[in-house]
Amino acid sequence: MKTLHIEHIRCPLHRYTFSVKAIRNWTERVCEGKVFNLFAGKTLLALDEVRNDLDPDMPADHHCDALQLLRGWSGELFGTVLLDPPYAYRKSMELYKGNICSPFRQLKDAIPRILRPGGLVITFGYHSVVMGRNRGFTLERIALFSHGGAIHDTIASVERYSPP
Ligand SMILES: C[S@@+](CC[C@H](N)C(=O)[O-])C[C@H]1O[C@@H](n2cnc3c(N)ncnc32)[C@H](O)[C@@H]1O
Repeated sequence: MKTLHIEHIRCPLHRYTFSVKAIRNWTERVCEGKVFNLFAGKTLLALDEVRNDLDPDMPADHHCDALQLLRGWSGELFGTVLLDPPYAYRKSMELYKGNICSPFRQLKDAIPRILRPGGLVITFGYHSVVMGRNRGFTLERIALFSHGGAIHDTIASVERYSPP
């Protein structure tokens, strides 16, 4: 049986996740290799990253729908894919100018093609298993970012790809 590493970190909630120092530091520590940051937002990470955000006002290399970019990608393979989409339709409307996440199942299906064997997918959201065993992923690490009071946690899941 593999060991699952769990961390519990108290920090504020912000709509731009990586603007919270504790989350940014954790992410920079856990990522490996070249990073494909598909919902990059505002904060530049101290990582070797290719950044994408549909919002043209965000600092990014690409301003595409994440799924379209993934499907059309013919460049290098990545060591880590970062997924930090709007967590719900209502949040897209209220917080991110109505930019909604691509269909998430299709997004997940498109990821293995652009990831190195042994690479990581790190997902932020309300769920702990994202890519899953059927796609060849093993859950290695979970971080619960606790925002206190009645605010739900942000769950970060780290899954490693071992293609069959
Ligand atoms: C939860 S925020 C996270 C941003 C970033 N990770 C951060 O910490 O600042 C979600 C981001 O996804 C972008 N977004 C929404 N729909 C998208 C799509 N279909 N493709 C790419 N980016 C999208 C929004 O513009 C927003 O910046």
